[in-house]
Amino acid sequence: MSEIVPPSRYDVAFHRVAERHERVWIFMSIVLLSLLVVGTMFFVVLDYDVVVKTNGYNADPAIAAPAFADNGLVRTGPNTYTVHMLAHLWRWTPSPLHVPQGATVTFYITSADVLHGFEVQGTTINITAVPGIIGSATYTFSEPGTFNIICNEYCGIEHHAMMARIIVDPASKS
Ligand code: CUA
Repeated sequence: MSEIVPPSRYDVAFHRVAERHERVWIFMSIVLLSLLVVGTMFFVVLDYDVVVKTNGYNADPAIAAPAFADNGLVRTGPNTYTVHMLAHLWRWTPSPLHVPQGATVTFYITSADVLHGFEVQGTTINITAVPGIIGSATYTFSEPGTFNIICNEYCGIEHHAMMARIIVDPASKS
C-alpha cells in the first residue's frame, strides 16, 4: 500500500505543486481556448464557406493584358461571366460593376502600379493585386444587393478611400 507523500517545504516554497484552484483555472483556460478555436472554425466554415477560394496566380500577364483595357463584365456562358479588374492608385476599374443575380463571376485581378488588396466584403473573394501577376477567384452572387470592394493592402495616402462597388441586379420575375 503506497502512502501519500505530502509536498516538501522545498516544493511548496518553489510552487512546484499546483493547488486545486490553480488546476481548475488551467483546465478552464484550456477548455475556453479550445472552444474559441473550434467556434472560430465553425464561424469561418458556416459564414464564409471555408476560407478564401483563390483560383491561383498567373505569372504571365501578357496573355490577358488587353482584357484589362476592356473594363467590363464579359459573358462566357448562360450564367457565367468574367471581369478583369485593374487596381490603380487609388481606384478599381471597372466600377460600379453590374452583375445579374445568380451569376457566377470569375475575377481576374492585377495592379497597374503598387500592391493592392482586392476584397469583396461579404464574399470569399480576397486577392492580392500584384503588378505583373494576375490573380483570380470565382464567386456566385446568389442574392441581389450591393457589395463593397475595398483595398485591404496599404498602398499610400488614399488607401482608405480606394473603394468600388458591385451591384447585383435582381433577376426579373417574368
Ligand atoms: Cu490600394 Cu490600398
